[in-house]
Amino acid sequence: MRNFTRSLSMLLIALLLGLPLAGQALAGGHGQPQPPRKAILLVTFGTSIPSAQTVFGRVDQEFKKTFPGVEIRWAYTSRIIRDKVAKTQGKTWLSPAEALARLMADGYNRVVVQSLHVIPGEEYHDLVAVVMGFARMKHGYQFVLGYPLCSTTDDLKAVGNILAAAADQGEAVVYMGHGTAHPAGVVYPAMAYVLRQKNPRVFMGTVEGYPTLDDVVAGLKARKITKVKLLPFMTVAGDHATNDMAGREPDSWLNVLKKNGIRAQPVLKAITEQAAIVNIYLQHAKTAYQHLH
Ligand code: CO
Repeated sequence: MRNFTRSLSMLLIALLLGLPLAGQALAGGHGQPQPPRKAILLVTFGTSIPSAQTVFGRVDQEFKKTFPGVEIRWAYTSRIIRDKVAKTQGKTWLSPAEALARLMADGYNRVVVQSLHVIPGEEYHDLVAVVMGFARMKHGYQFVLGYPLCSTTDDLKAVGNILAAAADQGEAVVYMGHGTAHPAGVVYPAMAYVLRQKNPRVFMGTVEGYPTLDDVVAGLKARKITKVKLLPFMTVAGDHATNDMAGREPDSWLNVLKKNGIRAQPVLKAITEQAAIVNIYLQHAKTAYQHLH
């Protein structure tokens, strides 16, 4: 402890005198540009489900492969999930602001923040505010945000191709999206439109927005479809997929479809389990990364 105190006070004196300490302790001090140190922060709602964490692990590997030598870190936007994982699994996940502060403290000055959200909705816009705050905080630091999965018309078409491909051999497919009252909720009916253009037997509904399950049922009945595959249009096959989609309650999508004479086969598989979807996130991250100086 005494040694530590002594070296600390020597360091302070050296700093005060502006002495050139060994190594890079003072390199890039006042006025001198710091050498770029790059990182990518992947931001997701989060999950407390181990199998979903395995999926995130594979996404992590893909990012590490695509950006060799770049520090890859994660942040969870959901405090409820962060608390739950800390309590039940003893694992600490940081919020986006905490993770960005940590990256700065660790000397990363070129940071891509890649949203792993599906649409540019409320969570994404919260993230925009956080990243803008950091971008203004300190000279010489750069923060660039990557778009969520379905942001542009090109994204809708690319994702639509992937979703429509799940319906092979005349099969019918229903996707359950989250839905939101946020203005970006328009992505869901837009996606439903794109899907109908690509394959009229592929449907998009939402738990909390538009199109509704009733809209989907009406569409299925109009086409006299009595058998569907039921999949979450979500990055995690979590609570919504397990309960709202495939649960035992009478108002689960599985049971509502059944009541309407439509036999549904639920598939608890998140879209992030598809390499082609992960690839779109990688492309968005690459676009953001190109903006780093
Ligand atoms: Co929800």
